[in-house]
Amino acid sequence: MAPLTMLLKTLITASFVAFSSASHLPRSNLQVSPNPPCKSLTPLAAYANDGNLTNAERMKRGLALKKPRFGGRTCSTPRRQDTSATPCNPHLPLQTPEPTPEPLCTGRTGVIRAHAGNPSPGDPFLSKTMNAFGEYGTTSSLSGALTVTLCGDSGAFSIWGTNGPISDLPFLGGISGAVNSNDNMSPSSYNYAYVGATVQTANGSPAVSGDNSFSRATGNSRKIESAIWSLGSNDQLTTSWVNSNGREVNGVIVHVVSGTDDSFVFTAGYSSYVDMFGPSPIWNFSFEEL
Ligand SMILES: *[C@@H]1O[C@H](CO)[C@@H](O)[C@H](O)[C@H]1NC(C)=O
Ligand SMILES: *[C@@H]1O[C@H](CO)[C@@H](O)[C@H](O)[C@H]1NC(C)=O
Repeated sequence: MAPLTMLLKTLITASFVAFSSASHLPRSNLQVSPNPPCKSLTPLAAYANDGNLTNAERMKRGLALKKPRFGGRTCSTPRRQDTSATPCNPHLPLQTPEPTPEPLCTGRTGVIRAHAGNPSPGDPFLSKTMNAFGEYGTTSSLSGALTVTLCGDSGAFSIWGTNGPISDLPFLGGISGAVNSNDNMSPSSYNYAYVGATVQTANGSPAVSGDNSFSRATGNSRKIESAIWSLGSNDQLTTSWVNSNGREVNGVIVHVVSGTDDSFVFTAGYSSYVDMFGPSPIWNFSFEEL
């Protein structure tokens, strides 16, 4: 490499690091990854069960602090075998069985087939497991698939992932990309969102701060939207994103492969995305009712 090119590359890299996501320098042969560097990721086992992230760890990750769990319910409704109404003791762990969870929404239930071009029976499903960044990838087996309930059938709606790995992040949502210049998408911007696990956000809401799998895994607090899905012809699931001005833009789904890992993002500016991150195939999601 010519010394001048090398110097230029070093300078561009340095300014990219210095100005982070605000930088708009051309970097045609400097492909950054849509994911941040792999260092200091929290393993899924440590954050999937939200119960064992300490408040200190939660603060570090920009997550809402947990309220202490008081035994309020047992105080007001003592269990049948209780012979005397015991006083509330916030330090005693509750032994009551978990109540059957209420459905988070009602709608058609099934799985999501992920494919490039027209779907075929050999195409993989969206997986019920996640990669190290807290993003959903693919699986070839139906038993490994994320089962979903569509929380709507027209307009943009949320999807409840009923067997996802993080029970308190039950929605299949969009998480604003770590390299984004802001939390808006447009046909002329590479900005993108990861497909991961989130809490629910209101239909029509722009990106808001909210708990999500990517932020738990990376410690990088990102904004989210869950009502990003629409049904097209043949039950194709398409993506959209609401910008801060309330305008909704349509996205295309991009398959991201890194080593043995795969995941998905969606972007409204596919050609800018490819300029930024390199060649990346457009994939499609199809809902398959079970
Ligand atoms: C968190 O909880 C999970 C599931 O109960 C357990 O496997 C894991 O070891 C726990 N992690 C820590 C750091 O305690
Ligand atoms: C796949 O998605 C792209 C972009 O959203 C769309 O243009 C194309 O028609 C879709 N293909 C199929 C087979 O649904």
